[in-house]
Amino acid sequence: MTVSDLPAPAPVPASEMASTFKVIHDHAERIYLWDYERCRTQLVTLYNKAMASQWNSVTDLDWSTEVDPEELVDPDGATIQLARAAARQPGSPIASWGEREFSALGVELFKAMISQFMHGEQGAMLTAAKIVETVPWIDAKYYAATQTMDEARHTEVFARYLDEKVGGAYPMSPYLEEQITVLLEDSRWDIAYLGMQIVIESLALAAFGDMLRHTREPLLAKLLRYVMSDEARHVAFGVLTLREFYAGLTDAELRDRQEFLLDNTLRSRARSSTPEIWERLGVDARALMPHLGAAAATMNSSLFVGFQRGFYAKLVPNVRKLGLLDANHGYLRERWGEAGLLEFEDAADTASEYESYDEVARDRGDR
Ligand SMILES: [Fe+2]
Ligand SMILES: [Fe+2]
Repeated sequence: MTVSDLPAPAPVPASEMASTFKVIHDHAERIYLWDYERCRTQLVTLYNKAMASQWNSVTDLDWSTEVDPEELVDPDGATIQLARAAARQPGSPIASWGEREFSALGVELFKAMISQFMHGEQGAMLTAAKIVETVPWIDAKYYAATQTMDEARHTEVFARYLDEKVGGAYPMSPYLEEQITVLLEDSRWDIAYLGMQIVIESLALAAFGDMLRHTREPLLAKLLRYVMSDEARHVAFGVLTLREFYAGLTDAELRDRQEFLLDNTLRSRARSSTPEIWERLGVDARALMPHLGAAAATMNSSLFVGFQRGFYAKLVPNVRKLGLLDANHGYLRERWGEAGLLEFEDAADTASEYESYDEVARDRGDR
């Protein structure tokens, strides 16, 4: 029997197909280049580093590691503390909860977080591929191609960790989905970089670092160290490319990019709540929301600022290096300053320190 003798697979109904993927219309132009000269030495260095520090998701990680999902939970995590406070509110639907339920909540929060990492990594893979197509510099195309491979590996390892070690992925949060869709649709190639390499990947570096500090699970810890090795290079790629490109833009064009950053920071909605987590635990999320709100009002907000600080500690120095903090008479500096976000302005930008993240080279004795 030959392949052509095999029956064709049954067609998948359109309604089912629509739930398995999303179509995005990109308005950017693809650029084919005839100039192959390697003139951007910092990008050449970064590309060579990326090739040397590629890791293998199958052989560099020990997938036989036994993982107990309850061991992954941080009992002092901010959301668990919030839920404990909500349980003490009069009439709370979770008033009867004991330690078993709070631990189950912790496991669901963990799955939800890893799920957002997985979906975000796929978004990064699509964005890096878009940059390969749209950026007008050969050195940047080469680098973005290595990033596309890195992001495939990241998506794959988070998906595998969820599937084999904890189970039960969550859908992409509508906020993250909107944030990435906008980048993939935009006609300007640099907006893909600004939104992904500068904003989302600065956030990802802070989020992975936060999880790494709180975990004792060896497989997850190594996976995060290796993913962060790559992410630091990706952010450096954004800083090096956009710094050069933004030096040639007009004030009006720079103002547009400053507005984009304001939209993605001060004007973005607070982290969206995830009603699915409560539904999986048998709690009516709508009935619980007022109690969570009341509990949040009684809590020390400093519980929630640690992570935020980490995010801005990466983002602000990178944006300063792009010249966007001070362009247009300090338009962005003024607004971020009013919001108290400039604390880390003078910290090292990621283009200057990305090598310090290279745990892959460290493990191999290369540095
Ligand atoms: Fe990634
Ligand atoms: Fe990345």
